[in-house]
Amino acid sequence: MTDLAAQELQIRKHQEVPMLELRSVSASYGPYRALFNVSFSIPQGSAMALVGSNGAGKSTLARVVSGLVPISDGQVLFDGVDISNFSAVQIARLGVLHITEGRSIFSTLTVEDNLVLSFKKLLGRRESKEALEAAYIGFPWLRKRRKQIAGTLSGGEQRMLSLAKVFAFSPKLLVADELSFGLAPIVVEEVFQLLERIKLNGITLMIIEQHLDKLLQLADILGLLKKGEIVDYGPLETLKSKLIQL
Ligand SMILES: Nc1ncnc2c1ncn2[C@@H]1O[C@H](COP(=O)(O)OP(=O)(O)OP(=O)(O)O)[C@@H](O)[C@H]1O
Ligand SMILES: [Mg+2]
Repeated sequence: MTDLAAQELQIRKHQEVPMLELRSVSASYGPYRALFNVSFSIPQGSAMALVGSNGAGKSTLARVVSGLVPISDGQVLFDGVDISNFSAVQIARLGVLHITEGRSIFSTLTVEDNLVLSFKKLLGRRESKEALEAAYIGFPWLRKRRKQIAGTLSGGEQRMLSLAKVFAFSPKLLVADELSFGLAPIVVEEVFQLLERIKLNGITLMIIEQHLDKLLQLADILGLLKKGEIVDYGPLETLKSKLIQL
């Protein structure tokens, strides 16, 4: 094989490895089983929309991916690496950023302390400083508000503060759980524009959202979750009609 052919094969192989793959994953909260044999994969650079009614297990699935909830069965692979038994910090270090449901900020700390604290958990002192600068460049208004107590930011601003970490960490996979929950339509619009920008930067997305119309513009793949099971999964175009049944 020529060098060039070997190189092409290498590239093709890499493209074939999904960014995220779940194989028959189950998870429980004590005796309550929340996920049943969940399998799907997200190719690198794609966006998956995860939809389902309240209590279907969407947030649990997000927590499984980022290591916040342990799995009881199956396998989770991230970029070809089996992360089934990795801790949340190990998974984050590999490049998974999970913006959790609700306001994932420390409301009594300042904007800057919020950022510094989340960076310090994963990065060294110098890298944390660079990450802070990257967040301020991505969101210039944050710099002006850096001394403000995060809990006094508006709901939309708090969500943007969570998203600022994307620019600082440059994750490979962003797991976003109901980022736009409870936000005014104009702010929802902003959040989705930001997600679009993040996708254009080549970051793979797993998105949980109630705003289906906006989500469907962004997503390539759809996963329908019902009572802890994936009942449908595939390219968005082929599954759009199923959404009516939700
Ligand atoms: N910490 C927990 N302890 C026990 N049961 C839990 C826990 N967290 C979630 N559950 C249960 O697991 C199931 C799935 O919850 P999950 O939060 O994943 O649903 P969801 O699809 O995200 O719902 P929503 O759309 O309301 O956010 C629910 O029945 C819920 O009550
Ligand atoms: Mg949820």
